[in-house]
This record gives sequence, structure tokens and C-alpha cells, in this order.
Amino acid sequence: MRRRGSFALPYAGLVFLISWSRVNYPNSRIDCAVRHRAGITPRDGELGAGSDKAWPLQERRRICATPRRCPERSNPRFALLQFPTGAATPASIVDALNARTGNRPGARASFAEGRCVRGTYVPSDRAVEITKSVSFTTPSRVLARFSAEGGNPAVAVADSRALRGFSFKLGDNDHRSDILLQSAPVHFARTLDQMLAFLKAQVPGPDGKPDMEKIRAFFAANAETLHQANYIAAHPLPASLAGTIYWGVHSFPATNSKGETRFIKFKAVPVGGEVTLTGDAAKARSADLLRDDLENRIAAGDVRFSVMGLLDRPGDPTTDVTIRWPDEDHREVVRLGTIVITGVEANDTCDASIFNPANLAEGIGDPPDEIFAARRAAYAISLARRR
Ligand code: HEM
Repeated sequence: MRRRGSFALPYAGLVFLISWSRVNYPNSRIDCAVRHRAGITPRDGELGAGSDKAWPLQERRRICATPRRCPERSNPRFALLQFPTGAATPASIVDALNARTGNRPGARASFAEGRCVRGTYVPSDRAVEITKSVSFTTPSRVLARFSAEGGNPAVAVADSRALRGFSFKLGDNDHRSDILLQSAPVHFARTLDQMLAFLKAQVPGPDGKPDMEKIRAFFAANAETLHQANYIAAHPLPASLAGTIYWGVHSFPATNSKGETRFIKFKAVPVGGEVTLTGDAAKARSADLLRDDLENRIAAGDVRFSVMGLLDRPGDPTTDVTIRWPDEDHREVVRLGTIVITGVEANDTCDASIFNPANLAEGIGDPPDEIFAARRAAYAISLARRR
């Protein structure tokens, strides 16, 4: 006859295993199930062109199987990733972005015109108070890209009201973070469905022009989609990509080495201040923004940005990317570090790979809004198509 004690050890082991997995993997099944319902869970190793399943395996593992490495996820406030629930998918958004600008082979679906540059990042003493991310707390080389919104390079550069982009990669191979910023603090759509409808309304008709009636009707029914355009219209135009303020828009959960997590928003501020132009001067200068002006300033050692983290307050809206935090311009901010752009790189260096907002080293988590969730897949889809 077996003695009672002989069951005790395996039983205790089983109980320990179950408790351990609950503590360390609290949301993994939920996240994977929701992603699956949203149609963005790929098969292993799949990076298919034009597919919503274009999700590198490594990235999926980070989300679904390693929550212990992302402790911000054990707190429901930070863990609640929102996934698109409507008809739009990341692939349909990339389709619409491409259609808006006439499906140019080899071009990015968005921010197609850009200048690849290199530089350095040096953290501030205070970065560690906000995040334990090695990308932000350790000096590193930087690969960066300044860009202009739109899929048509010629139009984007000539239109001085086009949104400008600033993307950069910090950290070493094991702790890489890609941060993508734009020259407005809000996005133009709150949901993916709204983004798809917005893009479709702008697709040119057979006469090569968008239907203005349709666009006006869309704005009338979706007032928040005007927030970004209103912001751009109310502010002086950037006269230099090196003298523009760029925002990360989303609310990112940041965890420091004490395990404390709070939301931050990224903002890159030119150390020498903003450089703006108005009226005719802006028109005259817009065409060389991406080329001569930038290159001259880099040659003069004049391109430096403070990378700031805006600190949250209780009750801040963290899932609506069309609105700012209350009193956002007067928030407590921490300078995380400084980027100095030291040289121009061949554009091929940036074009061969991708600045992907989903690449975040441990210590900065995924923002909880549905637009960010879609971005995780959309960039890989666009990369696969333009290769
Ligand atoms: C807050 C919102 C957003 C910001 C700040 C942003 C910013 C940027 C920037 C700066 C780039 C240029 C990247 C580079 O230099 O290589 C870019 C490219 C792109 N964006 Fe976004 N974006 C936003 C939202 C979205 C959304 C919601 C989607 C789709 C669901 C999207 C899809 C794309 C795609 C497909 C590319 C081209 C990627 C490539 O082929 O490399 N973006 N975005």
C-alpha cells in the first residue's frame, strides 16, 4: 500500500506550477485569444506580404509568452490592450494607405519620403527614475529617419502642411527600441474603422481628385478626426526638420527598476528651439526641408534633440489617440536623454529594414489603445510589400 506522503510531493509540485504560471503569465491566454479573434495572430515564422498574419514569431512570443519580462502587464491598468473589433484590419489599412497615393512599388505606405541619418544617444541621470529600459538608460548609436507624411514623395515634400516624422532606433541588438514620432500630438483617428473610413474618403476618383463632398461629410460625422488638422493649422509651419517638435502620441507604460509603472508620452524637442516660418517664406523653403536644410545643419553640428517623457496624472485618457492629456503642455516632464545627429546615411540603410513601433525593449510597454495594436502588424505588412 502507498503511504499518503508519497502523493504530497508531486501534488505540491503541481500546485506550485499552476500558481507560478498564473502569477507569471496572467494575461497571456487572454491576449493571444483576443489577437486571434482580431485576425492578427500569425503562424510560426510567417511574415507574409499583404497578410494580417504578418507578425514575426519573435515579436509574438514577446507579447504572448513572456509577460514576466513585461511586468507592467500584471497591473490591469497597463495590461488592457485594446484590439480592433470592427471591420478594418491592419492589412486593409495598408491597402487604403497605398490606394490613397497610387500604390507606388517599393515606397512606404506612409511617410514615404525621408532622409536616413545616424547619431548618438546619451541618457540623462533621471532616465532610470522612469524606465529600466536599457535602450533609454545606456548610451548607444542611433539610426534615425526624418520624413514627410504621405505615400507620394513629391507631394509630401512640397506640401508644407504635411505632417513630419522622426523615427529612431536606440540600444544594442539585444535591447533595441524603435520610437516613431510625428509633428502633431494627436493621431487623426480614434479607432481603426474610423481610420479606414478616413483614408477611403480620400482615395482619388477616376478624375484623379478626391471627392470633397465625401470628405466634408466624413468630417461632419467624425469631429475628432479634425483634431490633428486643427492643431497643424493653428501652429506655425516647421522651417526645419531639425527645429521641429515631435510627439509619440500614445500613452506608453514605463516601468523603472523598482517595478513602478506609470504612463509616459514621448516628445523630442530640438535643443536649439523650434524653427518656424510663415506665409510665402514657408512655401519657398518647404521643398528643401528634407534635403539641403537638414544636411547643412547636420554638417554644422546643429541637430540635437532632448528626448522627453511627459508624466501621467491619475485619470489621464490613455486609449484615445485623438485627444491630449489635460494641460499636456504644462506637464511635469523628465528628460530621458539627448540625441545628436552626426551624419547622413544612405537611404538604403533605413529602407532595407523598418522602424517598427512594436520593437520596445523591456521597461517600456505597449500602449493600451487599439490604434497601437494595429500598428504592430501594419508596419511588417508594409515592409513585406515594399521589398
Ligand atoms: C500615432 C500614430 C502614428 C504615428 C506617430 C506614426 C508614425 C509613423 C512614422 C514616423 C513613419 C515613418 C517610419 C520610417 O521612417 O520608416 C510611419 C510609417 C508607417 N506607418 Fe505610421 N504612424 C502612426 C499611425 C499609424 C497607423 C495607425 C498605421 C496603420 C494601422 C500606420 C501605418 C504605417 C505604415 C504602414 C508605415 C510604413 C512602414 C514601412 O513600410 O516602413 N501608422 N508611421
